[in-house]
Amino acid sequence: MRIAILGGDGYLGWPAAMYFAARGDTVLAIDNYLRRRLARETGSEPLLPTPDLAARCARFEALTGKRIAHRIADCAEDGALSAMFAEFRPDAAIHFAEQPSAPYSMRGRDEARLTLRNNVATTFELIWAVKSAAPRCHIVKLGSMGEYGTPDIDIEEGWIEIAHKGRKDKFLYPRAGGSLYHTSKILDTDLLEFETRSGGLRATDLMQGPVYGHCSDEARDDETLFPHFHYDDLFGTVINRFAAQAACGIPLTVYGKGHQRRGYLDLRDTLQCLRLAIDAPPAPGRLRVLNQFTEIFAVLELAERVRGVGARLGFDVAIRMLDNPRREQEEHYYRPAHDGLWKLGLEPHYLSDDRLAAMIEFVRRRRDAVDTSRILPRVSWA
Ligand SMILES: NC(=O)c1ccc[n+]([C@@H]2O[C@H](COP(=O)([O-])OP(=O)(O)OC[C@H]3O[C@@H](n4cnc5c(N)ncnc54)[C@H](O)[C@@H]3O)[C@@H](O)[C@H]2O)c1
Repeated sequence: MRIAILGGDGYLGWPAAMYFAARGDTVLAIDNYLRRRLARETGSEPLLPTPDLAARCARFEALTGKRIAHRIADCAEDGALSAMFAEFRPDAAIHFAEQPSAPYSMRGRDEARLTLRNNVATTFELIWAVKSAAPRCHIVKLGSMGEYGTPDIDIEEGWIEIAHKGRKDKFLYPRAGGSLYHTSKILDTDLLEFETRSGGLRATDLMQGPVYGHCSDEARDDETLFPHFHYDDLFGTVINRFAAQAACGIPLTVYGKGHQRRGYLDLRDTLQCLRLAIDAPPAPGRLRVLNQFTEIFAVLELAERVRGVGARLGFDVAIRMLDNPRREQEEHYYRPAHDGLWKLGLEPHYLSDDRLAAMIEFVRRRRDAVDTSRILPRVSWA
């Protein structure tokens, strides 16, 4: 297949580029290094300096003989993607090219505006690139489980049938994002719903939970091929952040009561889910929504898991309960459906002590590079 990867330099985009290239697909990775710029501007550099896309593509080709084409370009720029798609003619386009941090989006007006404009504009430009240059292309967009919020009823996979005053109809499941970032993802979903229903596009929206892991199998233990690893309060996702804190002897920072429950998945399962979605596209005119996570944990439960694995490795790991900088429910019902990817054949890697130990060891070996001033939350929703 010919697969365009928007955001191909990112934490998920780069492993996805290697994964599909390794299986023999023709891959074009597109990125404008927005994430690198925001990390620099906010003092949130990743643990390891990450080689640029050209260097990583060259390294991957030298190791495997497989080529990943790349372009440094802004997917939100008027018509830029359409021109690329007219040349590349993708069968599938995976859309990662967004500002993905909830705290960053809540930092102030400039950050909120950047998040909103960038995320909605990249989705809009992708839709028009497909319409104008590759109408059969399957759009696979990364959404977020955070779009649903934590309603007091079961969460369905994207759609819900509602009976009202004796009649029934099917609608997008009601959404209630917990940050401006999540709200931008809701707008993406609405755009895709409109365009599939009215214009006959085919799209899959993968409502993903927080991802963990420092590398994927395709990196072959070559650290220049690892994705960027963030451990800070803005860009570090919770399990990665806890692993780094454990390795550095910094107490694990649990926000609020720590009873917030979310669905998580291993980076290797993100790749597997993408493959399953791409290999079984929906019919034209249909927005398929799949809830993408493999298991549910409360934050405090995760902290306790990391503390236990840390202790086994000889680290004295403490847990520190902090006032919650976010506005979120700390005690809530949580029962999201997630059958779709299982039905497509998902074979999950559940969170294991070995995976956690490998992440902690990975950080321990370069613990001197960790800037401990970036661990405590710098952004409050208030
Ligand atoms: N990592 C997670 O745990 C997680 C969980 C749920 C959903 N997601 C979603 O998955 C996607 C990827 O997340 P990630 O963690 O890999 O983030 P990331 O920031 O590492 O990757 C996004 C990439 O897109 C690029 N990008 C952003 N705007 C662009 C633009 N206008 N033009 C070109 N490139 C652009 C960035 O430079 C970056 O390399 C995001 O949409 C995010 O919302 C991630």
